[in-house]
Amino acid sequence: MVATSKKDESEIAVEPQYNGESEIQAFDETKAGVKGLVDAGVTKVPRFFIHPQGSLNNILKASKGQFSVPVIDLEGIEKDPARHKEIVDKVRDASETGGFFQVVNHGIQVSVLEEMLQGARRFFEQDTEIKKQWYTRDRTKRVVHHTNFDLYSSTAANWRDTCYCIMSPNPPAPEDLPDVCSEILIEYSKLVMSLGGLLLELLSGGLGLDPSYLKDIGCAEGIAALFHYYPACPQPELTFGTSQHSDNDFLTILLQDNLGGLQVLHQNQWIDVPPTQGALVINIGDLLQLISNDKYKSSEHRVLANHIGPRVSVASFFTTGSRPTTKIYGPIKELLSEENPPIYRATTVMEYTNYYRSKGLDGTSALLHFKL
Ligand code: OGA
Ligand code: NI
Repeated sequence: MVATSKKDESEIAVEPQYNGESEIQAFDETKAGVKGLVDAGVTKVPRFFIHPQGSLNNILKASKGQFSVPVIDLEGIEKDPARHKEIVDKVRDASETGGFFQVVNHGIQVSVLEEMLQGARRFFEQDTEIKKQWYTRDRTKRVVHHTNFDLYSSTAANWRDTCYCIMSPNPPAPEDLPDVCSEILIEYSKLVMSLGGLLLELLSGGLGLDPSYLKDIGCAEGIAALFHYYPACPQPELTFGTSQHSDNDFLTILLQDNLGGLQVLHQNQWIDVPPTQGALVINIGDLLQLISNDKYKSSEHRVLANHIGPRVSVASFFTTGSRPTTKIYGPIKELLSEENPPIYRATTVMEYTNYYRSKGLDGTSALLHFKL
C-alpha cells in the first residue's frame, strides 16, 4: 500500500491505488527469492504475486478430454530404418498438433536425470549468502540467478525462482558454475546437446528436409540450462508457478520431477503433462514455429502453483538468445510456395529474444509481432 499522509478523512476513505513497485523492489533486494519468503514463514502470498481473476478462473479447468501428450519411444532408432521412419512420423505429428511430446529410451540414464534434479535443488537450497552471489539482473552474465525475469514488467509475479547457465557455445569451465551442481550440469548438458542434435534431425526429416538441415542453420548452437524452483505456495489459487507462455527458443528439453503441475494449452483446453519416470518433455519453441512457417507449433504452457513443494525442473533451451548474433532466421525457403507464402518476417535470435523479454509472460505470443 502506498503511504498515506493524513490530510482529511475523505482522502483516507479512498484506498490509494495499489503500487507494487516498492514492494517488488524490496523483495528483489533480499536476493533470497520466493524461497526466502517461504523460509520466512509467509502464510499469504504478497499482493504482487496475485494474478488477475481472468487468468485465475481457468486454473481448475484441466481437461478430461481425449487428447494426451504423446510419449515417443526412441528405442532402436539407430538400428532399423523402418523404425527410424516411424519415429520421424510420430515426432512430426506431435510437433504439428500439440507441439509437445515426451521421449523415453532417449539414451540419458535415469541416474543422470536424478542427479541433475538433485543438483538444481542443491543450488536453491545452499547457504543463502553463497546463493546470493549469483543473484543478478545483468543478462550478460553466464550464470544468472533471479526470481521472475519479468518481475518489474509483468502484471503479476510467479511463485518461482530461476537460475540459468549458458552452456553453449563456449562451454563453461567448472569454476565458472555454481559449485554445488557444476559437475552434473556439464555432464547433463553434453548429453542434452546430443539428444537435441538427434531431435533436430528427426524434426528436419519431418519437414521433408535433409536430416542435418536444422543443425546446419545453427539451431543447436546455443544452449541455456534453466533451473526452476517452485516452493510450496500457501495460496496456490491466487498465483502461478509459471504463467501462460510459449518458449523463446528453437526447442526445449525439459526435465521435471514427480510433483506435476505443468500443463499445455491444446485447442483451448489445459492438458496435464504428467511426470513420467525417466522421460524428458520436448517442446517446439517460437523460433522453430517461425522458421517452419507455422508447420510446427510452439504451444502455450504454464505451471500451476501448489501447496506441495518444492517442485524442481531443468529446462534446456536451444537458443543463442543471450549473446549478440547476426544470423537471420525467416521461414525456410524450401517450405514456401504459392499456396504456402511466408507468414513471418525474418529476424535475428537476439532481436526476437529482446522483444520476448521486454513483453514478459503476459499470456500473448511474441510471434504475433513478427507476422507479415
Ligand atoms: C520454461 C517452462 C516448465 C517447468 O522454462 O519455459 O515452461 O516445468 N518450464 O518448469
Ligand atoms: Ni516454457
